[in-house]
Amino acid sequence: MERQRITLANQEFLHGGDYNPEQWLDQPDILREDIRMMKKAKVNAVTLGVFSWSVLEPSEGEYQFDWLERIMDRLYENGIRTILATPSGAKPVWMDEKYPEALRVDEWGRRRHHGVRHNHCMTSNAYRRKVREMDSRLAERFGKHPGLLLWHISNELGGACYCPLCQKKFQEYLEEKFQGDIEALNKAWWTTFWSHRYQRFDQIEPPFANGEGSIMGLNLEWKRFTTWNMTDYMKSEIEILRSITPQIPVTANFMKLYPGLDYRVMAKELDVISWDSYPRYHNDYERLYDTCIENAFDHSVMRSMCKERPFLLMESVPGAVNWHEFNKQKRPGMHKLAAVQAVACGSDSVLYFQWRKSRGSFEQHHGAVVDHLGKDDTRIFKEVQETGKLLEILKPAVKSIVKAKAAILFDWDNRWAIEDMKGLSQQKKQYEKTCMDFYRLLARLGVEADLVSREDDLSSYRAVFAPMMYMIEKETAKRLRQYVCRGGQLLATYLTGYVDQDTLCYLGGFPGAGLKELFGIYAEEIDSLYPSDKNRVKFADGSSAEVRDFAEMLRVQDAQILGTYTEDYYAGGAAVTRKSWGENGGSAWYVGARLEDSAMKSLLLQVLEAAGIPICEIPEEVEYHCRENGKYRYHFWMNYGKDKVTISEVKGEDLLTGECVQKEIFVDPMDVRIVRESREQKM
Ligand code: GLA
Ligand code: ZN
Repeated sequence: MERQRITLANQEFLHGGDYNPEQWLDQPDILREDIRMMKKAKVNAVTLGVFSWSVLEPSEGEYQFDWLERIMDRLYENGIRTILATPSGAKPVWMDEKYPEALRVDEWGRRRHHGVRHNHCMTSNAYRRKVREMDSRLAERFGKHPGLLLWHISNELGGACYCPLCQKKFQEYLEEKFQGDIEALNKAWWTTFWSHRYQRFDQIEPPFANGEGSIMGLNLEWKRFTTWNMTDYMKSEIEILRSITPQIPVTANFMKLYPGLDYRVMAKELDVISWDSYPRYHNDYERLYDTCIENAFDHSVMRSMCKERPFLLMESVPGAVNWHEFNKQKRPGMHKLAAVQAVACGSDSVLYFQWRKSRGSFEQHHGAVVDHLGKDDTRIFKEVQETGKLLEILKPAVKSIVKAKAAILFDWDNRWAIEDMKGLSQQKKQYEKTCMDFYRLLARLGVEADLVSREDDLSSYRAVFAPMMYMIEKETAKRLRQYVCRGGQLLATYLTGYVDQDTLCYLGGFPGAGLKELFGIYAEEIDSLYPSDKNRVKFADGSSAEVRDFAEMLRVQDAQILGTYTEDYYAGGAAVTRKSWGENGGSAWYVGARLEDSAMKSLLLQVLEAAGIPICEIPEEVEYHCRENGKYRYHFWMNYGKDKVTISEVKGEDLLTGECVQKEIFVDPMDVRIVRESREQKM
């Protein structure tokens, strides 16, 4: 049974961000000015305490919380609520001095020195105990504070630790997983290859950079373990907070598609999903639309972890960050577009890193609402203020949600397995990009898609797209078969079902685990193409499409052939197939090659039609989403292009102008439109 999530008590969109008053305690004028400017910018929530440990506990056991209470009080008196972080993202010097085991060990086996942040061992009992002591005191002191809105666990949990304590825990984890049977592990990991058989669990080392990196099963299990151990660490923080403040929800800020941890596992322990978004806006290698649609994909990954409720945009920058290769300012208007995009994708907040720039140290040149200049009439401040006003107007839409009719399987284990597999073309595998391409093509057709794991329930979706599901275990295969038998449309591609959960290849043809029968095909070979290689797939309607990167040679058992290769030794062979299943109308579609957009679009159209999902083509360089609640649908359009576009067949109230929309609306370049449609009236 899944744990009941605690609801965030927000009646409005949260606007604000990370605030570090501890850096300015000796300048009360600045702190006063902050409150005045926050009110002007319509800030209603800030995140406090993220890196405050050395101020909260300057020496071991000496807790100093009065400053924090004063600030929380003052913020609350001014209508600003607090997201309170636990300070475990960075350690004070006395900690590393006294408990060196709390320092992380890297993949070369080197123990880190004191400094920077995110460098703690997740296993160390000494560290966990110090963190729990801090957390329990914070919860006791501030748990009943009327301004406390949400707990923010640590900061951007990430990385891995290779210390002796973590190694031992890994061995215990494996021993439990394989029920003490080392032979079962040897088999699952195929360790006879290169003579890597283990005799005992305590011989197993993590995949050190200068150690064992050639056992795919070990590499994958280490990633799973790191997720498990990080989650276990996170839970040790959550448990203590929940025991004292069961009414306060808990979040941890995620980082985009961070590859090191399976966020879906961590998400199960959180009440609120939140993440930090820093796209490279206005770069010189893609259109602004492409940058933004990738960000929409990331938003949607977060949204899909908490489908029944909104997520939070925990961090974003109002101007420029300091860690991209080129730290370009958001152009005028971009801030509004990005803020509305977050809301459109299902966020109930627009929060920033950071409120005020620090004077010194690592992030002194990182963008903020308040610059070193200290003024409230800057371009950036005004854009933030405008965003605050806009979020106030949008207030009725708070807590509405995005509902998707389609899903794309985007699975972390599969990501890791593909990344680590040796074969194909290393640089062209591009699993994430392939999933994003599906998302983008669906978005162009006005179809919202969730991004789900192979363990998620698929029954609410009418179509499921499963690109490159290289790793599929029997249980998933069974659920996919059921999905199609019950009438679902499932589309899979090249590289489906090659390996099981331990990365052992299936014997007897890919896709394995009973999926050959589902699709009515099997792949005899897979070819990798150089960029200069040319091949095409020809379809029954006479159209044809270019093949890029990968092509599988399909042996057809009992599927309909939709497209065949035109070149090379596999010319005339099947490339795209469909197998229809029974009376419920389900179909299993298989696309054996990476195809150019035009062909994928027409295939998606066929799948969507079979699924009965309505489509509505969205103009070039425009993004569309819809949030809904029992009464209204909120339609959002963001135009990232250079031309004004017309959206037709729209009815409702334009929320930003208050006008009544009868038929069509126009969206100016770099602008947004938001229309509220009553659910009683038909669009
Ligand atoms: C991350 C961190 C913040 C800050 C920003 C800078 O999101 O959580 O503390 O370092 O990056 O972009
Ligand atoms: Zn460790």
